[in-house]
Amino acid sequence: MRPSLIDQTAPFAGLALALTAVAATPQTQPSKPAAPTAGPYASARTCAPCHQTIYNYWSESAHAQSLSKPSFRDALEASAAGASDKEAVRRGCLWCHAPTTLATADYDLQQPITKEAVTCDFCHTVADVDLDKADHPFHLRPGKVKRGSLLYAKSPSHDTEYSTLHKSSSLLCAGCHEYRNAQGVAVLSTYTEWRESPYPARGMVCQECHMPTVPGSTVREGLQSTQRVINLHRMVGGSSYAQIRRGLDLRIESLALTGVSAEVKVVVTNAATGHAVPGGLSTKALVLAVGVETASGQITHRQERVYRRDLRDAQGRSLVTIPELFLQAASVGEDTRIKPKESRAERFTLPVVEGSKAIVARLEYRDVSDPKAGPKTTLVTEERRDVTAR
Ligand code: HEC
Ligand code: HEC
Ligand code: HEC
Ligand code: HEC
Ligand code: HEC
Repeated sequence: MRPSLIDQTAPFAGLALALTAVAATPQTQPSKPAAPTAGPYASARTCAPCHQTIYNYWSESAHAQSLSKPSFRDALEASAAGASDKEAVRRGCLWCHAPTTLATADYDLQQPITKEAVTCDFCHTVADVDLDKADHPFHLRPGKVKRGSLLYAKSPSHDTEYSTLHKSSSLLCAGCHEYRNAQGVAVLSTYTEWRESPYPARGMVCQECHMPTVPGSTVREGLQSTQRVINLHRMVGGSSYAQIRRGLDLRIESLALTGVSAEVKVVVTNAATGHAVPGGLSTKALVLAVGVETASGQITHRQERVYRRDLRDAQGRSLVTIPELFLQAASVGEDTRIKPKESRAERFTLPVVEGSKAIVARLEYRDVSDPKAGPKTTLVTEERRDVTAR
């Protein structure tokens, strides 16, 4: 597809360029962005009077908050801090977290539309996504035509176009959920993991799991609607306990008592997640913890298995923070995450003594995305086997 005028004039210089600037003294000046313009995108607030229910769900989404979150602002500043071309680094983060900047060049985050982050009019005017495109993957067509998943939709306020990109492709999402940094490391590989899973053959694109249909009206009463259901625009992932729980299965498959110890086999299955678990950035880990519960309810002799994807810098150091992951990752270390439909069997030997009550297996989800808040651990599920009666 031929790039639009906007594609050609987009002031985006690319994270690759930005990184050249970080890594070494740049040989060339990063291309200068155009002056900020009011921009061609309409605010979500102009959609809200008609698409009220969808607007409400979207407002609660991580997408709507992906610029305003203090943890993002901190990471943005930290990323730019050490760079010789700070603005180039900022641009390299903002095209995903505030994608209207691709057309507005509002890198100082002054315009209200920028603050709407991943907003309605951005997604609904994307005409195509090409992951091999040099600057950024989107073919932007902001304007009167709103592309979506409804056949024969008619709106008094805009034109409509049925779009398979929105309805039945994972590529719209891949535009931001698949990313290689300047060193060629896939910092985000959600799309590739999905593509290599059994789900594409079943026609299960990202939207099937992240935008299920719920009762509701696409438009307010009084307007003509073709639908009685809407696609949930809250798009939850790792921030939702229920979503994580839905995707995983935990089982104590066998327990053998020897008199002084217990041999335990535990199986963790990625039953219904369309990509590796944990998904997204390497700031997350899934932890399987097995221990012995005492009569007083305490867990002792805790042993862990950690499922995580380790990204390393050029010196082989494991990276932890988000700025490091994006800017410095130079190779992939161990990747112990659980692939779609994969089952992982783990064996543990635990001491069982008088007073031991049960063997407990827990799945925990650990997120260190926000260094200020510290690690956040959520209990996903728990399985137990009584050992007193034996
Ligand atoms: C004056 C009311 C009104 C406003 C304002 C409005 N829309 Fe719509 N829109 C509609 C109606 C009516 C439909 C058709 C709904 C149906 O058939 O169920 C529609 C349909 C759509 C569709 C589906 C198109 C398709 O073919 O799948 C999208 C996407 C959409 N609107 C996006 C937006 C966005 C983004 C905004 C704000 C920039 C917006 N709309 C503002 C009334 C409105
Ligand atoms: C991250 C991209 C994204 C954002 C942001 C987004 N949408 Fe959507 N929207 C989609 C996709 C994809 C579909 C089709 C889902 C499907 O059919 O499985 C859709 C469907 C729709 C539809 C058709 C009815 C339906 O529920 O399927 C309307 C109308 C719509 N969106 C309006 C909006 C409005 C208004 C906003 C902002 C308040 C918004 N969208 C924000 C991606 C997005
Ligand atoms: C323009 C870029 C962009 C597009 C397009 C996009 N996303 Fe996102 N998405 C993001 C960003 C940025 C975040 C991180 C938000 C945060 O946590 O601050 C995110 C977060 C998420 C999350 C995690 C939410 C949570 O609970 O932590 C899910 C799930 C998600 N997106 C699904 C989708 C799906 C499905 C699509 C396609 C319909 C899509 N995204 C399209 C940029 C995008
Ligand atoms: C078969 C259902 C399914 C499909 C298909 C699917 N996901 Fe998910 N996704 C889940 C579940 C369940 C979770 C929660 C478990 C987790 O966080 O890893 C999740 C989590 C996520 C998260 C949050 C990761 C985290 O741990 O915070 C993102 C981002 C995401 N998905 C994006 C996508 C994208 C992009 C696609 C398409 C390429 C996609 N998903 C396809 C079920 C699915
Ligand atoms: C290709 C798109 C893309 C680029 C470029 C990008 N991000 Fe993100 N970012 C995402 C997505 C998608 C997520 C959510 C992934 C997940 O759920 O693990 C995310 C998550 C985050 C989060 C975690 C939000 C939270 O609270 O969970 C922070 C902070 C962040 N990014 C900062 C940055 C910084 C700083 C840069 C630039 C160095 C950057 N991002 C570049 C797409 C991008």
